[in-house]
Amino acid sequence: MYVPEKIERILYTQEELAERVRQLGERLTSDYGGKNPLFVCVLKGSVVFFADLIRGVRCPLEIEFYKASSYDGTRSTGKVDSKSDVPDITGRDVVLVEDIVDTARTLSDVKARFLEKSPASLKIACLLDKRSCRDERFKNFSADYTGFEIENLFVVGYGLDCSQAFRNLPYIGVYK
Ligand code: XMP
Ligand code: MG
Repeated sequence: MYVPEKIERILYTQEELAERVRQLGERLTSDYGGKNPLFVCVLKGSVVFFADLIRGVRCPLEIEFYKASSYDGTRSTGKVDSKSDVPDITGRDVVLVEDIVDTARTLSDVKARFLEKSPASLKIACLLDKRSCRDERFKNFSADYTGFEIENLFVVGYGLDCSQAFRNLPYIGVYK
């Protein structure tokens, strides 16, 4: 297996990720059947999770992409950088798909921007949640669908990066 020197240990293997993502897909299938939801991939980190998640949802759906980030290297900058326009979501059942919730600054900002566009509903699916790292202002923020709650570790792989590297690892690893 390819484990770069900067990876301290593997937190979730490819198989563990596949099983958890499959379970989330099952829940989404039963919650969104007959609704033609719009799944929005929050770029870039959620791209791998997104691709696996939507293939586990067994009902008609559409996809969109939205670019936002607040990280620089391994630190949250606190400043959310939204680089795209919110797609036309009026009256749509929207599921925002994010790789990880940390301080929740990014998703709180993205969620507010999406809510301004009058979706019929807006839910959040995230693979990882670092609950203990919430910004005081967003301490009650939680996702509607969560893969795993993790401690305060910097993790990479399965789409997550450190300065753009390691997104291609098929597992989630702890960065040294
Ligand atoms: P906030 O703090 O706004 O952060 O909830 C969410 C965004 O920060 C990135 N992030 C990470 N990226 N490993 C990463 O590769 C991590 O451990 C990590 N923690 C936060 C991520 O891009 C997410 O969208
Ligand atoms: Mg990132």
